[in-house]
Amino acid sequence: MLHDDTGRTLFEKSRPGQRGTGEIEWDVPRVGLDTLVPAKFRRKKAPRLPELSEGEVVRHFVNLSTKNHHIDKGFYPLGSCTMKYNPKVNESLARLAGFTTLHPLQPAETIQGALELMWRLERMLGEISGMDSVSLQPAAGAHGELTALLVVRAYHLSRGEDRRKVLIPDSAHGTNPASAAIAGFECVTVKSAPDGRTDVEDLKSKLGPDVAAFMITNPNTVGIFETRVEEICAACHAVGTQVYMDGANLNALVGITRPGDLGFDVMHFNLHKTFTTPHGGGGPGCGPIGVKSHLSAFLPSPRVENHEGKFTLAKPATSIGPVHGAFGNFLIMVRAYAYILAMGPEGLANVGHTAVLNANYLYAKIKEGMSCKFDGPYMHEFVLDGSPLKALGLHTSDFAKRLMDFGVYAPTIYFPLIVPEAMMIEPTETESRETLDRFAEIFLEVLRECKESPETVHSAPHNLPLKRVDDVKAAKDLILTHPFE
Ligand SMILES: Cc1ncc(COP(=O)(O)O)c(C=O)c1O
Repeated sequence: MLHDDTGRTLFEKSRPGQRGTGEIEWDVPRVGLDTLVPAKFRRKKAPRLPELSEGEVVRHFVNLSTKNHHIDKGFYPLGSCTMKYNPKVNESLARLAGFTTLHPLQPAETIQGALELMWRLERMLGEISGMDSVSLQPAAGAHGELTALLVVRAYHLSRGEDRRKVLIPDSAHGTNPASAAIAGFECVTVKSAPDGRTDVEDLKSKLGPDVAAFMITNPNTVGIFETRVEEICAACHAVGTQVYMDGANLNALVGITRPGDLGFDVMHFNLHKTFTTPHGGGGPGCGPIGVKSHLSAFLPSPRVENHEGKFTLAKPATSIGPVHGAFGNFLIMVRAYAYILAMGPEGLANVGHTAVLNANYLYAKIKEGMSCKFDGPYMHEFVLDGSPLKALGLHTSDFAKRLMDFGVYAPTIYFPLIVPEAMMIEPTETESRETLDRFAEIFLEVLRECKESPETVHSAPHNLPLKRVDDVKAAKDLILTHPFE
């Protein structure tokens, strides 16, 4: 293909004097900068910025966007990460000037609409999850975990109990122990039983008055529903331990059951996984937490309150305080709010059913080729045991890279750790049957290649802009800057 997109950066393409549409006209007086910043702190030279025409910049970024795989380009079955379609109407709404031109420090009476939206979204998430109060402040699921654990600690301390331990299953997402450690707890691992669920007897043997919380993902990270959840909650509550639900997999439950009704005290949501907001890349997203009423007073401040239609901000004395600047990432909340309203109760009621149906449909199509270590029924995702590949001299990572040659993204690999050569597939509820059929065909084709021409798979990818990279070097020798002269 003939194009000038040779991997050059904008700086390398820059030519002096090239411009876009012209000077920006300021609609506010440019006072202050020259006088307020003392001369010694003002830059002596103009910044070195690339100079290009508008068309060149657009082409540059469009070309880059097609080199990468993304949800608008192709199927993205990344288990546990729930890469689902982000409806474009949510983007338009989040770009409304009435939202984007607000400043978080404006007086409450001038941001009534934004406060009302947050107040309503909190109630919607509470209704969907069965939790009594919700905070929208955390910026991601992992941040929600940390915030929730700080709330749990404040609750125990308010009762004069300095509990130091948090119990976590060995199948948990790595953020669970990381959050517990950052919150100052000691992490204790709970084993998985042979069926892939939590070993309840092991859990019970580790519970005691020193355990602040038990964190459990449901459906868990092997895509299986924790059926003994009521017994688990009862055992924890008997010794005052709070039960935390990692709600990353909530899209499997929406419309079917509610964590609050199952007995959980506290949970986090990942708005990007369940409510179609764009992924936040570990930060600029939204990972709200929901709590039962006994934990409400400890939620981060400020809290939005509704006094007969007048929205105010409160700072309860027992709150753990802010965990994010202002209110969190507000425009992500706008997107989730728009999605929930657009779906309505009936649409949302179908989310869980469709997520589960799609995963089980796909598994039924590929299980003859490769199967799961644990028996189903599976919920929204399933985890294949890729260890038979080893007999062919191959690994799950080879298989995953070859899949990408066919225009689909790879599943999550090597997680959870309790499945050897794990390959975790989550189609999500937003994919059509045709897409699932096509993926199953590709999957079985790669499996055939593994047997008939393993070298093709071992040396993949062949059709991507970058061939096989040295993963270890890429992780250890990360250079994120351009070597300018
Ligand atoms: C089970 C589980 N818990 C927690 C997280 C962390 O969420 P986030 O990526 O929003 O920080 C993830 C992310 O994939 C997850 O799958």
